[in-house]
Amino acid sequence: MTDPADAAKRLAAARALEFVRPGMRLGLGTGSTAAHFVALLGERVAQGLKVVGVPTSERTREQALSLNIPLSTLDETPELDLTVDGADEFDPMLRLIKGGGAALLREKIVAAASARLVGGTARATQVAPRGRFPLPVEVDLFGLESTRRHVVRISGEAGCSGFVVVRLDAHGHVLVTDGCHAILDCSFGAIPDPEGLARGLNAIPGVVEHGLFIGLAKTIIVADAAGVEVIGDLI
Ligand code: 5RP
Repeated sequence: MTDPADAAKRLAAARALEFVRPGMRLGLGTGSTAAHFVALLGERVAQGLKVVGVPTSERTREQALSLNIPLSTLDETPELDLTVDGADEFDPMLRLIKGGGAALLREKIVAAASARLVGGTARATQVAPRGRFPLPVEVDLFGLESTRRHVVRISGEAGCSGFVVVRLDAHGHVLVTDGCHAILDCSFGAIPDPEGLARGLNAIPGVVEHGLFIGLAKTIIVADAAGVEVIGDLI
């Protein structure tokens, strides 16, 4: 049976595909919504659409390669026209939480290189107040416990409290990202001051990047069984 949330993500991905124009340089996100987008993009490429993609993870690279989508890197193609990615949460100011798929560092680098970030997701993802999804923070493996304690302290100063745990893989080992870092999942619940928290986290030496995407998304596409809604810039 089709999972309704997954069906909604596919609808959102299909709508995001309408933003793609021939010749675009595209950032390809990571996760189930992005995988739908890449699959649909692959169909268009097979029909003759000319684009080039920069994947945000090894997973996405493999999927895109299997679909013969021409790929590049940010070194060869440092400026992108559009990135389509998923979101774990978003709020009315289009501030996102991302990183559920542990790809937040490359996702943020690619988003920052893009003229436009379009996020797609199932409607259930929108929450107010934000904080249902643990905030992922990507950290260096060196000094992991020390950095974790800094994250707890700094987050407390930004009004956040809750468990901060190292993400484990399916075998119970510390999950290691494509960039060879660890992920701390921070169960803060609502985040009263996302900008302040982002500043605080960025100031911790062992923090590589965090999953608060602030000021990056121009458009969010939300879908459910009733249809698709585009929030933010339409063009
Ligand atoms: C991966 C991400 C994903 O975009 C986010 O977790 C949403 O995933 P999905 O589309 O599967 O709901 O940030 O690091």
